[in-house]
Amino acid sequence: MPAAGVTPIKSVRSPRWSARIRRGRSGDEQWVFAYLSTSFAGIEGFRRTFILLWLTRAGRRPGGDTAWGIRRQARPFGRMWPLEPVWHDRARCRETLGRGGLMGTVEAQVRTYYDTAGPAYSQLMGPFWHHGDLESETAGLSPAEAAKALALKQIKAADLQPGGTALDFGSGVGGTTVYMASISGASFVGLSNNEWLSEQARQYCAEQGMSSQVSFLTAGDEDYKTLVAWPTDSLDMVSFFESVCHLPDKASFFRAVFRILKPGARLVGVDWLQRAFGEYQTDEQIAQWMRPVEEVISIPGHGTVDSYREMIEAAGFVVEIAEDLYPGVECWGSTPPDDGQGWGSYDGELSTVIHDGKRVLDAARAAGVFTVGRFVARKPE
Ligand SMILES: C[S@@+](CC[C@H](N)C(=O)[O-])C[C@H]1O[C@@H](n2cnc3c(N)ncnc32)[C@H](O)[C@@H]1O
Repeated sequence: MPAAGVTPIKSVRSPRWSARIRRGRSGDEQWVFAYLSTSFAGIEGFRRTFILLWLTRAGRRPGGDTAWGIRRQARPFGRMWPLEPVWHDRARCRETLGRGGLMGTVEAQVRTYYDTAGPAYSQLMGPFWHHGDLESETAGLSPAEAAKALALKQIKAADLQPGGTALDFGSGVGGTTVYMASISGASFVGLSNNEWLSEQARQYCAEQGMSSQVSFLTAGDEDYKTLVAWPTDSLDMVSFFESVCHLPDKASFFRAVFRILKPGARLVGVDWLQRAFGEYQTDEQIAQWMRPVEEVISIPGHGTVDSYREMIEAAGFVVEIAEDLYPGVECWGSTPPDDGQGWGSYDGELSTVIHDGKRVLDAARAAGVFTVGRFVARKPE
């Protein structure tokens, strides 16, 4: 049976509404799937409405060839599927959806998110897509220079040497990967689950004259759980910059990294986190700000400094640094509310995603519950 798949057909957007039409396939069954979304009542009122229309091949399904299902989603991202469409064989439908049919797995949704957001991110941030070193930002360095300063800090912490080999997990459009290779003299593989990102990264890498030292590969959505392409004890460093937050199974990723690093080598990372702050102390109080971020920016759940430390230790590492990069202050990074990078005024294609993302993230930053953490961990000899 051919694998399930979803093909985009058309996307339509207005300032308040968007509609995406997709064709889904699983085995010899096909659907046309319209996904409508709207935001109303501001951040807390985020709701999505799905309308499903699916068509099976003639004769496949008893009772006719066409059926409708309408379902309002009560909660954001985490419960996006399985939906409960109106179907004669509901168990079968649920199985199909759960296997990665119409809505796909969480990982597939993240991949699709970057099809939409990737070009806008590139336009707004250039090749560096992660927060920078706070001191550098405070000193007035550009977002790109501050991002490089943080990457340099991580390379020094990892003690990566010329001639070494490293993996940058979740390499986006490649700026940080290429930069780390250039300052360390090590060889890098940058890994993503989105081929558009990898292709942009390859082009950038070639422009920088670094193609002999850096490769960009696109992995399957769930390959991060094993990193089976890399032999045991083979790498001198693994890095991640704001990518692990997208993984629903972070613990498996950290175990896989432990396996592929050489004894004595380091995992270094920077990631989006949540925390208790000010008047927002309980899970529910924090979630009111973080859930919209998770839904809009395709993040299955934010960890904390402590939850990352625990997962990394449980994988076998000795954690050397697990710190909040914005202790006691709101985390605005290089995107202060005055919109210095132009997110609010972005009017390129699919701008709703960017405006929604900025609005929910700004709200979480202003509430203080969003932050960024830094991690350095060593695999024991
Ligand atoms: C915000 S971008 C980070 C970009 C880059 N590290 C930077 O800072 O410029 C997130 C990255 O995580 C990757 N990613 C998310 N989920 C993934 C998965 N399941 N497997 C591999 N890569 C994944 C995306 O493809 C993307 O490259």
